[in-house]
Amino acid sequence: MRVLILGGGGREHALAWKIARSSLCEAVLCAPGNAGTAQLGANLSLDLTDGDAVAAACVEHRIDLVVVGPEKPLVDGLVDHLQAVGVPTFGPSAAASQLEGSKSFAKDFMSRHHIPTAAHHVFTEAGPLLAHLATCPVPVVVKADGLAAGKGVIVCMTRSEAVEAGRAMAQERRFGAAADRIVVEEFMEGEEATVLALVDGTTVVLLAPSQDHKRRFDGDEGPNTGGMGAYTPVPALDAALLARIRAEVLEPAARGLVQDGMPYHGLLYAGLMLTPSGPRVVEFNCRFGDPECQPLMLGLESDLLPLLAATAAGELASQPEPRWYAGAVCCVVMVAGGYPDSYAKGLPIRGLPGDTDDVVVFHAGTRAEGQQVLTAGGRVLGVTARGADFAAARAAAYATVSTISWEGASYRRDIGWRAISNSEDS
Ligand code: AMP
Ligand code: GLY
Repeated sequence: MRVLILGGGGREHALAWKIARSSLCEAVLCAPGNAGTAQLGANLSLDLTDGDAVAAACVEHRIDLVVVGPEKPLVDGLVDHLQAVGVPTFGPSAAASQLEGSKSFAKDFMSRHHIPTAAHHVFTEAGPLLAHLATCPVPVVVKADGLAAGKGVIVCMTRSEAVEAGRAMAQERRFGAAADRIVVEEFMEGEEATVLALVDGTTVVLLAPSQDHKRRFDGDEGPNTGGMGAYTPVPALDAALLARIRAEVLEPAARGLVQDGMPYHGLLYAGLMLTPSGPRVVEFNCRFGDPECQPLMLGLESDLLPLLAATAAGELASQPEPRWYAGAVCCVVMVAGGYPDSYAKGLPIRGLPGDTDDVVVFHAGTRAEGQQVLTAGGRVLGVTARGADFAAARAAAYATVSTISWEGASYRRDIGWRAISNSEDS
């Protein structure tokens, strides 16, 4: 098969790397890709908002399957467009992608289908929003309804933070049209975890659980980022809890989407809070997590491509369950100095090692210039390693991180601290 992956981050390099190892894969192309994907196949320059241009590229390059990485083209309906012109595509329709594209849609959907999540209210006017925030219990979470590049969620620990968040969204319009609707949510306490599933109508295939680190600094301090590191599996998520998440969250979601006339075909991301009363949904996303995808791809022993192709073709039920590496996998994200605020680009990266079976450096914000690899984004690399247990995986990842450098390079030194403290507790 000839596969085209859309996107250019760490998630897309990890997907391309895994697909390139498939016995079914003849070629893997990326658009726009990065310096990592360029080592696996051609990078195409394509406008992902132009469905006709993407479809034409699929004809020109004889593409058998398109895999859409990021949420924006999904929410904008690229999959509907490609499938209408006969290009097999992995990813949900625009209608089903509203689970990520509109938080109020997702909350209404969860209420309708009895999926456990935080209680919420939706506002469209500043007056009622601010009146609510002046009296509601705190902590409270204020969310812009639409896509806001992961920045539209404000967790407010105090009343004054809540009122300030409401003003920023409804009066100062800091998130633009994404905050035309504002969701105010009950604060949930617990450990967060990610469970990804391939969903094809009512068929649900769970992938190994993972945990992301959204805060910029060690100890989960500082601003939220796209993700500073991730690991799999998650000690807190044992088989019993996973079975509950399947039965209480992912299967009802898949069935609910079928009932609502928008069957899901693609990857459904459940961001969960493991609360004392059970798992509850923080958010749904309509694509692989980044960076969760990176450790999952290094940990997946089965071939990914037949799973993706079968999901796109409506035949996932015929596939065997995926098999996973018996140990643990850890991904440490190396970022540009200053990230998530402003940062420099175009800095030469030194010390990039060759990949082995157990350590792979997934590129995110990089580009090739001649023989050099330069930084080209905030999250630059996802250094990913596996080992017999989490401590071994983490040690291998950090050993490789220490060999790589560029001016201002930075990373968290505590990826997986929960996995370490949970194993020390037990
Ligand atoms: P989201 O973009 O919805 O995943 O939110 C970003 C982050 O905000 C999540 O990963 C959580 O850490 C936090 N968050 C969102 N909603 C809640 C909630 N209802 N209670 C506690 N934390 C939340
Ligand atoms: N790692 C969080 C996300 O992909 O949304």
